[in-house]
Amino acid sequence: MGQEQVARRIQNLRTELEKHNYQYYVLSQPLITDFEYDSLMNELIRLESEYPQFYDINSPSQRVGSDLNAEFKQVYHKYSMLSLGNTYSEEELKEFDKRVIKTIGEDFDYVCELKYDGTAISIRYKNGELVQAVTRGDGEKGDDVTANVRTIRSIPLRLKPNGYPAEFEIRGEIILPKEGFMNMNRERVERGEFLFANPRNAAAGTLKLQNSSMVAKRPLDCMFYAVYGEELPGQSHHDNLMHAKNWGFKISKYIHRCNGIDQVLKYIERWNSERHTLPFEIDGIVIKVDSLSLQKQLGFTAKSPRWAISYKFRAEQAATRLLTVDFQVGRTGAITPVANLEPVLLAGTTVKRASLHNADQIELLDIRIGDTVFVEKGGEIIPKIIGVDLLQRPPQSQPLHFITHCPDCGKELIKDEGEAKHYCPNEFACPTQIKGRIEHFVSRRAMDIGMAEATVDLLYSKGLIKDPGDLYNLKKEDLLEMERFAEKSAENLISSINRSKENSFSRLLYSLGIRYVGETVAKRLGRRFQSIDDLSEADFDQLIAVDEIGERIANSIIGFFSDEKNRAIIEKLRKTGVRLRTDEAFSERKSGNLTGKTFVVSGVFKNFSRDELKETIEKNGGQVSSSISGNTSFIVAGENMGPAKLEKAKKLDIPVISEEDFIKML
Ligand code: IVH
Repeated sequence: MGQEQVARRIQNLRTELEKHNYQYYVLSQPLITDFEYDSLMNELIRLESEYPQFYDINSPSQRVGSDLNAEFKQVYHKYSMLSLGNTYSEEELKEFDKRVIKTIGEDFDYVCELKYDGTAISIRYKNGELVQAVTRGDGEKGDDVTANVRTIRSIPLRLKPNGYPAEFEIRGEIILPKEGFMNMNRERVERGEFLFANPRNAAAGTLKLQNSSMVAKRPLDCMFYAVYGEELPGQSHHDNLMHAKNWGFKISKYIHRCNGIDQVLKYIERWNSERHTLPFEIDGIVIKVDSLSLQKQLGFTAKSPRWAISYKFRAEQAATRLLTVDFQVGRTGAITPVANLEPVLLAGTTVKRASLHNADQIELLDIRIGDTVFVEKGGEIIPKIIGVDLLQRPPQSQPLHFITHCPDCGKELIKDEGEAKHYCPNEFACPTQIKGRIEHFVSRRAMDIGMAEATVDLLYSKGLIKDPGDLYNLKKEDLLEMERFAEKSAENLISSINRSKENSFSRLLYSLGIRYVGETVAKRLGRRFQSIDDLSEADFDQLIAVDEIGERIANSIIGFFSDEKNRAIIEKLRKTGVRLRTDEAFSERKSGNLTGKTFVVSGVFKNFSRDELKETIEKNGGQVSSSISGNTSFIVAGENMGPAKLEKAKKLDIPVISEEDFIKML
């Protein structure tokens, strides 16, 4: 293909992929299969990397994010991001309506919208292209999270040419739909990471991640609710939103024009009962005067517009009886008290269990078996007990005491100072902890052995596995003795166990379940230390010298390897043939002419994609780090390197070299 032909093909692919993004993420009406979509995307990525002269930051291929550490820049909002007055009562809403009528008379419409429960974003478009996305911050200035926002598939990077103004801002709420939130938390359980309490926290937390490729992996979405600019096409809020819809933005189909407060109340009533049918969380309804000129006439108070108000739904509560309390033991030995309740209908689901968090919470509420308790469900998946109805307390009830011994192994529990949780210290003999560690070892993100929890249970109860090392000694005959296995399924499991020996050293490190060693930390450790022996001999200073590893993680690693039982498990694993060191290729790389040097890569390059550049550094013995520190030897700067990075480099006196300098260095 000639250059011109390539340019044309790239352009066609981009247009085509944007169209399918819109169909899939905005309209939820895909026209092609995932496979077809991926094929088009792969072709685009291949052409763009072969012909870097056609690089475009707004290409659909760029939505996968970058691995660079963004240090958020603060940006002033052109139009302040005000908050809304809010109310929980119909009476106050009627008073709001009276105040509005007093100023502008009766001849006007309201627009009612859902109040999306996420985190606010303001996005600026110039000549139809996304240029900047900023969080609300303090209302006057916010964080520039453009790189992260670019990864959200339903936010258009380039608009449809349907008469958009040359420059405008659009505001919306970044949300995490319920299903995506559940999946994300499910995966986090598998990985032993902390759970997000609700979709709002998860969305806000994700948007502030420093690594946009991680943001790209989370199913964020955005519902837009306001357009700002000097040259908007419509005279009313509703019209402008409909225009925005034509430019490619996701605008809710439940936006409704209402004439008079009675219609507003009907809309509220409808959504108060139907909100649980929506695929995302809402926490109320926003009511706005529609006409822009009437909005102007009404003006603002210091904090919020006089032309809008939000009606918030009360978190739903129900009263029910506390039957019993279970104390659950986690993989790390942490004890969580869980209340068993008389089933009660709450926010569209039947609630039978609620978390009681920890001993302090039980004491604070003075909660007792047989009490009538109030349960509340906000955005959280697990409902919480918020109080006790003392008037209904049965006579002779006794305060509930937190257990002193592990319900599983009987060992006395410990509670460290400053920690809210009790722990069972019997790490190597408490069945739940042992099984939990094996379950983690075989889980998808770890060794990916594909063994069900029930199988782990069974094998453990038969005495066949006591630690991950035993998995590799299992024989087909052992499995066939159990009812759940037939010839084929037993063979499959054994070959899956054998296959797992091929997993990388860093995957194995993650699988060991060392407290605080998640996937990213395991990768860093795997890169810095060549073998489990090097790592087990590393001292505190060597550990904290590794990027992103602090005192807490370093102490946990040292604690892990100083335990004789853990060392015995590693010896057992050594005999099985799993990878306890990085592969040969990596050792060879150590002797290139970049040996001993640490690089930070920033910006866009002519001859390499960023990943290729990183790979080249590592192949030649160098190390790549995502953030600039005293340990950085060079910064390789491409086009558009962030000013914050440049400033930091200057401050630490670290040489900034060009792509050409780097090639010479090789
Ligand atoms: S309008 C000047 N509409 O609620 C008022 N806000 O305190 C502009 N929100 O954090 C806001 N859904 O992000 C508006 N349909 C909606 C909304 C909405 C959610 C959020 C907004 C802000 C808060 C208002």
